[in-house]
Amino acid sequence: MILRLSRGGPRRAAFYAILLLFVAAVLFRICILRLTENDPAMVSPSKFVVGPDHKIYEYNRDMPLIFIGGVPRSGTTLMRAMLDAHPDVRCGQETRVIPRLLQLRFHWLKSEKESLRLEEAGITKSVLDSAIAAFTLEIIVKHGEPAPRLCNKDPLTIKMGTYVVDLFPNAKFIFMVRDGRATAHSIITRKVTITGFDLTSYRQCLKKWNSAVEAMNNQCKELGPNRCLKVPYEQLVLHPRKWMEKVLKFLDIPWNESVLHHHEFINNGVSLSKVERSSDQVIKPVNLEALTKWVGSIPDDVVKDMAEIAPMLSVLGYDPYANPPNYGRPDDVVATNTKDIQKHKGDWEKKAKEMFNNRWEEGGGGDTALDKEPSDNPNNTT
Ligand SMILES: *[C@@H]1O[C@H](CO)[C@@H](O)[C@H](O)[C@H]1NC(C)=O
Repeated sequence: MILRLSRGGPRRAAFYAILLLFVAAVLFRICILRLTENDPAMVSPSKFVVGPDHKIYEYNRDMPLIFIGGVPRSGTTLMRAMLDAHPDVRCGQETRVIPRLLQLRFHWLKSEKESLRLEEAGITKSVLDSAIAAFTLEIIVKHGEPAPRLCNKDPLTIKMGTYVVDLFPNAKFIFMVRDGRATAHSIITRKVTITGFDLTSYRQCLKKWNSAVEAMNNQCKELGPNRCLKVPYEQLVLHPRKWMEKVLKFLDIPWNESVLHHHEFINNGVSLSKVERSSDQVIKPVNLEALTKWVGSIPDDVVKDMAEIAPMLSVLGYDPYANPPNYGRPDDVVATNTKDIQKHKGDWEKKAKEMFNNRWEEGGGGDTALDKEPSDNPNNTT
């Protein structure tokens, strides 16, 4: 065949012309297919916001969002403050509406009858998902400054982690865990109203902690190590450099020393809410004050039954019989910070008072997960 072609000049030219046309037609067809494939309304186009630096920031469902979760009072605010100190990251205050909306979707689809009604009305799962993703994204993008990497800290969102990655396939989770006895002590002494938690009973709070952290831990496992990183609060405060290196690596964010100095960026990169209860704690540098405050406050009968009340303690590596367990030795810088803070205790209290005007003492507060909203119950099954 090659022999014949090489003999007949015009025939060879005609052959190449036809071949060329054929290739062009195939390429054209591929292009058209690509275009029409991307055309249906299901695919969300990129939107954009303009930053104070006049840079354009695009946003869409494929962006690598960061979600920080955990049982309230487990160090989620510290983690987000440390990330907020990084010039490439913006988390910001709790939005509160995002976990509520996500929870609503589960209620909408709970009964088969209602799901069928929606389906018949053309409100398919994918229509719902695209609407919920759009709402969530608008809130995350617009409740604070634009940044190359956006992050959300509504502690309970991680309960619905696997659904969140359906909405945002490149999302990653930081799962803060903390000794449940410290979390319960903090909820009770700071009077953090969380649906389902009885602030008068350590036993009940520890049981609630146990089921909430178990559900979140299962979500984190299901997400897998590429999408969910578990960070023990105690280890973060004992060894902030080591753990922040781990966190930034997991998130594919370049290292920056700023994350170890979050307190220097308060209201200048780290925006705080006057009515979030943990705000007064993150104005201080990383310190050990909150590690063992709970020791001695839990009733003896509860201490005795700890392993049965909160089996997740052992699962997460906390000895239920040690009061307190040995969490480890702090880095020098953390030990120094802690001594400094204790020496200037009065100054810090004054500073907190000036900044927040004791808003949460006046009943204007409420935290993470509020009053009388079933969707705020960290133990709700989804
Ligand atoms: C680290 O962040 C600060 C601002 O927070 C910035 O000025 C500095 O250039 C950053 N350093 C590196 C190495 O990116």
